[in-house]
Amino acid sequence: MASLSPLSFLATTKVSLCSPSSSNAPNGHRIAKVSCNGSNPQEQQQRQKKKKDIILGNRRDVLLGLGGLGASAAAFSYNPFATAEPVVPDVHGCNKPTLPPGAKPIACCPPNYENKEPIDYVIPNYQTLRIRKPAHDYDDLEKYKKALNIMKSLPDDHPHSWTQQSRIHCAYCHNSYHQKGHTDIEMQVHFSWIFFPFHRWYLYFYERILGKLIDDPTFAIPFWNWDAPEGMEIPAIFTDRKSPLYNDLRNQNHQPPTLVDLNWNGRTGVDTSGDVEANLATMYRQVYEVKRPICFYGKPFRAGDKPYSSRTGSGSVELVPHNTVHSWTGDKTQPNLEDMGALYAAARDPIFYCHHANIDRMWTIWKSFGRKDITDPDYQNASYVFYDENENLVRVKNSDAFDSKKLGYDYKQLDLPWQKAQPKPRRTKAQRNGRRVVKKVDLPFTLKDKIVSTVVKRPHINRSQAEKDEKEESLVFSLQFDRTKHLKFDVLINEEEDYNWANPKYREFAGSFVNVSHAAQTSSDAGSTETTFSIGITDLLDQLDADDEDSIVVILVPQYGDEVIVKDINISFEDCNN
Ligand code: C2O
Repeated sequence: MASLSPLSFLATTKVSLCSPSSSNAPNGHRIAKVSCNGSNPQEQQQRQKKKKDIILGNRRDVLLGLGGLGASAAAFSYNPFATAEPVVPDVHGCNKPTLPPGAKPIACCPPNYENKEPIDYVIPNYQTLRIRKPAHDYDDLEKYKKALNIMKSLPDDHPHSWTQQSRIHCAYCHNSYHQKGHTDIEMQVHFSWIFFPFHRWYLYFYERILGKLIDDPTFAIPFWNWDAPEGMEIPAIFTDRKSPLYNDLRNQNHQPPTLVDLNWNGRTGVDTSGDVEANLATMYRQVYEVKRPICFYGKPFRAGDKPYSSRTGSGSVELVPHNTVHSWTGDKTQPNLEDMGALYAAARDPIFYCHHANIDRMWTIWKSFGRKDITDPDYQNASYVFYDENENLVRVKNSDAFDSKKLGYDYKQLDLPWQKAQPKPRRTKAQRNGRRVVKKVDLPFTLKDKIVSTVVKRPHINRSQAEKDEKEESLVFSLQFDRTKHLKFDVLINEEEDYNWANPKYREFAGSFVNVSHAAQTSSDAGSTETTFSIGITDLLDQLDADDEDSIVVILVPQYGDEVIVKDINISFEDCNN
């Protein structure tokens, strides 16, 4: 160990502290279990110490002590602190939401659920598919308006009312629902791998209920096609003041014909809306280029896991363009960019469901590239509770949502202009090597309004193609921040220290961390929010012709919002893989 260079700890993989085995869950499913109860007292003591070290942030000792690369191919499947069971909401204990400062108090819990036991949802046997179409070319507008008008006329406590539909989102992201079996821990549907399936189910019932209200089971909601130039405006169907699809609380500078900025920097900075090339490059980077399930879907979230911790982390699409489009759409004059820019309020804007239909479409498209769902049983069996179109309180699970066709719908096939929009290097290797003077900043550091650059050692260079196909090299940041505040910073690789702009059309732009205002802190979750942020860089380094270099320059460009503490930056070969 003594021969390790000071930077080596940055490059150590995450390793499993406990040994995996399997057992049968009460429901008969075989589940991965983590055995942390070794009988040997010495072992136990060591484990306690490691646990404490991790809690105290002494990751260096822990990681050094546990050896090197490739220590555990499946490290991410085994979380020593989780109970290795799927996360499930405690439907009998919905609470008042904790809202960000400045928000008007609201209730989020569903009506009359307290004494009901949810039943397992049986998916109808769909004979024809509902085809969701782009909002700029949507031929069911009259049906949608009619259905929404009925929905908006229902009494607030009706499970199908607009009020209730919009509150579902708040119930699942503002500390309202807690986890079954862990009633002190929030059930949170962002910051982890349950992001895609939860929102798929949410939209599914919204669509089924609308269809039921107009007695048309073929009714399909539109999607906001912000990934193609012709769909980048706020769709016209949402801007007619007399329509039930209209909402007042949106950014007035972002009305048509302004095009969306998927990389929006703008609470305060220059508004860069309308850069089609940058938008397409962003889509390429966040969707097409991300090959590994964990980096696409997000990190594990199991029963007993706290939603904001050094082990959770959003997938690529949740951060960008999901979060950026939320913030871009919300009203800048409101305290938390309500409606769309604050999660508790977002679903009060009908455009929310249209934005999320396109997010959901990205899941379908991503899999059409031959990429896979997560097979971990804790992912497959995570479940949620909704009122269905027949007013039954039903429980639904992730694995039933993997194939949208099973749920009776699909998306209209369109060109994907971003699939070929690979960003180009701004500088050649020769240009870059001319100047490479970077001050190393010690970790942890606070990122606020100045650009920070640092150097991260790469443990493996020049890996073979087979190795690259097997494991993604990823750059992992451990962060701490205030989740009620908006925040964005960009990451550039092998740029210059005094570099003061960032554009996704260049290959040196590696990704962004974006926070949308979330639930306020609670007593069970005292202290600041922690999370991880991972970026796959295998292809990026190849395209920068930098795979033979044993370190990378990492530049963090704060764009807006509150400060963020960067606790750690390391290279991992496990982080994106599952
Ligand atoms: Cu649940 Cu767009 O967020």
